[in-house]
Amino acid sequence: MTKSLSRPRRIGVLTSGGDAPGMNAAVRAVVRKAVYEGLLVTGVMRGYAGLIDGDMRPLDERSVGDLIHRGGTFLQTARSERFKTPEGQAQARARLEEAGIEALVTIGGGGTFKGALALQDAGFPVVGVPGSIDNDIPETEYSIGFDTAVDTALDAIERLRDTAWAHSRVFLVEVMGRDTGFIALAAGLAGGAETVLIPEVPFDVGELCESILTSYRKGKRHSVIVVAEGAASAADLGRQVRERTGLDTRVTVLGHVQRGGRPTGFDRTLASQMGAAAVDFILQGKTGQMTAWRSGRVLAVPLEEVVGRRKEIDLSLYELARILAI
Ligand code: F6P
Repeated sequence: MTKSLSRPRRIGVLTSGGDAPGMNAAVRAVVRKAVYEGLLVTGVMRGYAGLIDGDMRPLDERSVGDLIHRGGTFLQTARSERFKTPEGQAQARARLEEAGIEALVTIGGGGTFKGALALQDAGFPVVGVPGSIDNDIPETEYSIGFDTAVDTALDAIERLRDTAWAHSRVFLVEVMGRDTGFIALAAGLAGGAETVLIPEVPFDVGELCESILTSYRKGKRHSVIVVAEGAASAADLGRQVRERTGLDTRVTVLGHVQRGGRPTGFDRTLASQMGAAAVDFILQGKTGQMTAWRSGRVLAVPLEEVVGRRKEIDLSLYELARILAI
């Protein structure tokens, strides 16, 4: 049973899992909204790992200055194996109690919310804020960092298109997204890619090669193929494309470049609204919830409806990318 939370005196905030551009803006919003509401705030370093170790520091409105535009997370982050154990979780709860923290805001993705739900189920009030470049968190249209990661991938795709065109080459560009294709689809559609490969839609290498050759026969002189990391290894696929088509083929893996950099205006706005809403939810007793973005509004969605579920991709966008690539 979650203890019924009268107005807390002190709340905590942490970032966990893979960092995402805009996490700093979210922490800033949590801290400043909490201070505005007369609450004290403790920052927990290195996610759940730092929580177990009691690695914490007090934060006030000045501690979060000059951060809104910075990528990464000044609280640092980690993926903690210890927190997955009942012992680790008990230690974490003990540290929260010692520090006088009465509710916690956790900013991160699926793994972070699994941990948050464990704390909530053990009676400690938590609100989750979705932060992940993958945008794979159910019940919210956007997670913090996705928009920036898509822009970063787009920038790379456009640069690669220039050189692909100049040399009449096939370019395979591998983007992140874990086992989902949200980044690939958004960047591929916006970047005018000839083909987008996502894990949600199986593909056949023979058909892919045939479609590249057909497009060359129809007058195209280059081909940009955006590959979600969960769909295939671009390096392996590039070798096969080169062998089967005989075309000059190159591969670029964008990797962690997509995780850093200045958050876009959208990500900063999203982070500011969600961070502030998380504090509101705590004050309204709406814990065990995630801040979800739907049609321009921030709503509370139970963590139980988020954890362990898979977010569906919009296949009409996939179809559109295919149609517009003719
Ligand atoms: O979840 C964010 C993400 O960047 C994924 O897109 C990627 O698969 C993974 O994290 C990489 O993890 P790590 O930073 O541990 O290599």
